[in-house]
Amino acid sequence: MLTQTGRRRIAVLVSGRGSNLQAIMRAGTDGRLEADIALVLSNRAEAPALAYAAAASLPTRVLAHGDYPDRNAFDAALADVLTAANVDLVCLAGFMRRVGPALLDRYPRPILNIHPSLLPAFPGMNAQQQAVDHGVKITGVTVHFVTAELDAGPIVLQRAVPVLDADTGETLSARLLPVEHEVYPEAIQRVLRRPWRLVGRRVQFDSHEPTLR
Ligand code: GRF
Repeated sequence: MLTQTGRRRIAVLVSGRGSNLQAIMRAGTDGRLEADIALVLSNRAEAPALAYAAAASLPTRVLAHGDYPDRNAFDAALADVLTAANVDLVCLAGFMRRVGPALLDRYPRPILNIHPSLLPAFPGMNAQQQAVDHGVKITGVTVHFVTAELDAGPIVLQRAVPVLDADTGETLSARLLPVEHEVYPEAIQRVLRRPWRLVGRRVQFDSHEPTLR
């Protein structure tokens, strides 16, 4: 799946705003990420992320979950589209559908997700508000492999962010977002470029630093 330049191919799955998609696009053009976005797929035709992708001439696809009788049928269709796209890695970036066994059992390549907390704390929706409400002093962002259990797959990369006394869910989200934008391309580059293995739940990378080739 290497292109002529040795770059990898990734798919990005989105449902909304698309700021992480844009961060991945920027990293691809400024050399931090040696990967081309071969597909931007959304379950919502009106997702602003799709418009950014189209404006940048990236291939886009809408797979509306409402067009399928149930989650399994949607996941199976998703597996078919991703298989046909022939990508090395799938990156969920604000994709608001849970993926289940009908996708994970059929699709053999790794799938990453980014989540705005230090997992396993605060999985699910509104992780930033959950952190404020719980009163933790440190939260952060996590990039992890996707498994059938929500926000519970093996962790690739995490970065901590302090929670301030004056924080609300909104102010904390605003401080976490730039960190997400830094960490996600870094994690994708690592997974694509450094040999890694899974030891139990632990994602272990070879010790040498990633090299840009
Ligand atoms: C991000 O906070 C991400 O961590 C979460 O959903 C949000 C998506 O934002 N999974 P965007 O669409 O990338 O701007």
